[in-house]
Amino acid sequence: MAIDVATVRNNFPILHQAVNGKPLIYFDNAATSQKPTVVIDAISDYYKRYNSNIHRGAHHLANVATEAYEQSRDFIATYINAATSAEINFVRGTTEAVNLVAAGMAKELKPGDEILISTLEHHSNIVPWQMACEASGATLKVIPINDAGELLMEEYEKLLTEYVKVVSCTYVSNALGTINPIKEIVAKAHAIGAKVFVDAAQAAPHKKIDVQDIDCDWLAFSGHKVFGPTGIGILYGKTEVMNALAPYMGGGEMIDTVTFEKTTYNRLPYKFEAGTPHIEGGIVLAEALKYMQNVGLDNIQQQENLLLAHGTKLLSAIDGMRFIGTAKNKCSVISFLVDGCHPFDIGTMLDANGIAIRTGHHCCQPLMQRLNIDGTCRASFAFYNTTEEIDVFVDTLKKVVARLR
Ligand SMILES: Cc1ncc(COP(=O)(O)O)c(C=O)c1O
Repeated sequence: MAIDVATVRNNFPILHQAVNGKPLIYFDNAATSQKPTVVIDAISDYYKRYNSNIHRGAHHLANVATEAYEQSRDFIATYINAATSAEINFVRGTTEAVNLVAAGMAKELKPGDEILISTLEHHSNIVPWQMACEASGATLKVIPINDAGELLMEEYEKLLTEYVKVVSCTYVSNALGTINPIKEIVAKAHAIGAKVFVDAAQAAPHKKIDVQDIDCDWLAFSGHKVFGPTGIGILYGKTEVMNALAPYMGGGEMIDTVTFEKTTYNRLPYKFEAGTPHIEGGIVLAEALKYMQNVGLDNIQQQENLLLAHGTKLLSAIDGMRFIGTAKNKCSVISFLVDGCHPFDIGTMLDANGIAIRTGHHCCQPLMQRLNIDGTCRASFAFYNTTEEIDVFVDTLKKVVARLR
């Protein structure tokens, strides 16, 4: 069943507006996605009907809020096929998830140990590991890529030695759209006894996630990229791995007993959820994922593949067009440069025509260094985008390029 884009677009009020006198064309979905009415309404419903602190109240509102929060956790566990709900930790987003795991692992790592990441990583999957290396004396190593933006799997295998304790890799590249062979990456790392963190920030908006099938030790994504609120995301962690990991933040909720001499920690997942959480965000994240499920993950992929093919074909016709990232397996992200035009100028002039794209290094400076560029223009499509929007985008881009040259 193909997606009915017109109906889907009616679920997103923000899309129906003019920007700089032109109908908004929103192609910055990899940065953040727009929110459907069910999500917006669920936020308002929480504050109108049952706002309360959770887990510790003995009153009606606290019970309603606690139940909604825990039901959301249950739903998310089922949605990503976790073995139990206790494997779902609510966090602020992917960035916090990587920091949480890296800080815990820093306590286990020692000089001589190695952490492996890839050239495609977002800064949030680089810097926390550098900090873990500084704290532990471990060494950071990097899986190289080819010019198309694909991981060099034979080089990866060579890097997988007995010293590697953690592999942390993105599922989908935010800057290039490359989809990595994540199951193979996990299986190869496990074969040498390393644990694997999967950054699914850019995969979850497009693909069905099955953590047991991937068999990763950790996986994280951010709510705001899956049509939910900002400031909420999830960290999946295998029970035995999370039981062994040191807690990240101390405070209320993450404890079992506290004396001035010693504190014992709460069971999973609460051991990693110190303080009052983003209650409404946690509840509403499930609504966002239910919305995606209702649209249909297959339908989403089908529409996005159509948009990717259409955009790539039309953009190829522009003189001086250079695609950055031409992996065989790609999500609906098109990064490009046009000879003689600065990406920032392109972005600004498209914005003057109501078209939102992103320009710059996309929080991937080392990747840009590898590609010998400062940054790119990035158009990233969601299932609510249309081929007609791409037609307008490419026509406008042609005019922008003609003016800039
Ligand atoms: C691949 C990838 N990883 C991690 C992040 C960080 O996500 P957040 O800023 O929501 O924590 C992003 C955000 O753009 C991303 O694209």
